[in-house]
Amino acid sequence: MTVDVRALLELSRALQGASTFADILNAARDAVVRSTRYRSTWLIAVENTPDQQWCRVLAMEGASSELVWERAPRFPVGADPFLLEILEGDHPVIVEDMRTDPRTDKEIVSRTDHRTGISIPMRIAGATLGMLCVGTFGAEGVVPPTQEEVEHLTIFGSLVAAAFDRVRLLIQRDALDAQAKSLADKGRALEEQLRHLQRLESAGQMASGIAHDFNNLLMAIAGHAEISLAELPPGPVTESLQVILEATQRGSRLTHNLLSFSRRRVLSRRAADLNQIVDRARQLILPAIRAEIALQFSPAAEEVPVFVDEVEIEHAVINLVTNARDAIPDAGTISIEVRTAQLEDDFVTRHEGKLVGTCASVSIRDNGVGIPEGLLAQVFEPFFTTKSVGRGSGLGLATVRALVDQHGGVVSVESELGRGTTLTIYLPLATGTRAPRDTAVAARAGGGETILIAEDDDMVRALLVRVLRGQGYQVLEASDGQTAIELFRAESARVHLVLTDLMMPRRTGLELVKAVLAFQQQTPIVVMSGYTSDPAGASELTELGLPIISKPTTPTEVLLKIRRILDGSS
Ligand SMILES: Nc1ncnc2c1ncn2[C@@H]1O[C@H](COP(=O)(O)OP(=O)(O)OP(=O)(O)O)[C@@H](O)[C@H]1O
Ligand SMILES: [Mg+2]
Repeated sequence: MTVDVRALLELSRALQGASTFADILNAARDAVVRSTRYRSTWLIAVENTPDQQWCRVLAMEGASSELVWERAPRFPVGADPFLLEILEGDHPVIVEDMRTDPRTDKEIVSRTDHRTGISIPMRIAGATLGMLCVGTFGAEGVVPPTQEEVEHLTIFGSLVAAAFDRVRLLIQRDALDAQAKSLADKGRALEEQLRHLQRLESAGQMASGIAHDFNNLLMAIAGHAEISLAELPPGPVTESLQVILEATQRGSRLTHNLLSFSRRRVLSRRAADLNQIVDRARQLILPAIRAEIALQFSPAAEEVPVFVDEVEIEHAVINLVTNARDAIPDAGTISIEVRTAQLEDDFVTRHEGKLVGTCASVSIRDNGVGIPEGLLAQVFEPFFTTKSVGRGSGLGLATVRALVDQHGGVVSVESELGRGTTLTIYLPLATGTRAPRDTAVAARAGGGETILIAEDDDMVRALLVRVLRGQGYQVLEASDGQTAIELFRAESARVHLVLTDLMMPRRTGLELVKAVLAFQQQTPIVVMSGYTSDPAGASELTELGLPIISKPTTPTEVLLKIRRILDGSS
């Protein structure tokens, strides 16, 4: 045989420089075209998955990148005798005419218009990596190889096999590198997330640690300020008292933020009308809005039923309106709008389908300074603030997002620098349950009913006892959970309602609640405080569905709540 040495040399030089399957194929095709009559060349790789062996067509002529590796069709080797003959042998398999040879798949042959096919297995160290194939199609007709052509192709096959093995390992190494890099990236992201969670956790611990004492202090201050305000004629002193009340509100917003945001608050959800919740929030925040700022409210024409913890949603709205106020340097307008909104498809996708279809929304729009685009993503991060020390702690929006999230809702922000900002809370609509109409109970006076108070803070207990007695209630008091349980057992016949704190020495409020319910199930109970240091207890309380008053609270709130419950309207 006359070997075309020059073709061999060129092939082996080209193969040495090959770094992709396409390079290999190009080099092989040049050699094939030079030394044989065949014009079509292709490469097939063998792939092993746990339960199958596959053939994948890597590249036909002209294929320009190893992308084909990913895209090209692959077919199972299975028990196909033809493929097995090629893969298991170490010699070229020649099919003179694909259309008539009994070994071929006639469906594929007619689809590809295949005529002659020569497949040379690429074997390295006893394993078959794939095959180098050449052949004719359609009008090229049937072209059986000469002995010399077969010998050339056999040598090409072994040269190509070595290059193929090298490139295969290169690609595998690159894939592993990429994988390692993406794992390292993921690791970094997880680390970042962990740090974030740790920050949350420590904020939560700090919050529940100080909130108990701090709320009790605030409650005593606010309570006495409220009582004095009611008893004094208007004048400079009542103005000071008003300022004291506002300052306690700010303090209480801060503890509330810390607790909500770290999810240590007990959610007490019920069906309600979003219009009414937002309106209450508006009334609460109104005194804190300067006269130069117009606060507009546009409720939805129809009731907007939601199933929420009303205090938390009020609180979220107050946070947003406070931010809007702080963003208006002089005069401006804040508008609050409640609607039912039909969600657009792209909104749904952006929020991963958390909310779909129609939902409830409340948006707070201001014409203040706006948020620079680069900061839009950051404003929800805990402790992110642009305000000076003492003016902002950066927990407002983080809290809003956490509690809206807890309600299965979504918060969105739009802002234009210098023109203003709109923040919108979207909540699922409540179905089935109708929101009860707020019956605006103005009554607060007692009718001689007996209230058992369990509260360990002397100042707060004294304040409550004073207020309740002042309104005509009988009061039994206990300064810890155990005493309260004993007192209740002894006096249950005359106790109309139990008002309890949650965190108390000896037995906790939750234990008291359980003991009371076990002893006399229909006893009305009101829980004050609304947070616990133990998240499991928090969800247990939520499940019991008891009315909850968040501390710090005002005497008026406690009186209204108690009256409403005793009158059976809540
Ligand atoms: N309506 C708004 N207009 C312009 N900037 C806003 C608006 N709302 C929030 N921001 C920006 O987002 C930051 C974070 O707000 P966030 O409510 O979380 O914290 P804060 O208001 O700074 O402090 P805190 O609410 O704890 O008192 C603000 O400091 C402000 O820079
Ligand atoms: Mg804020």
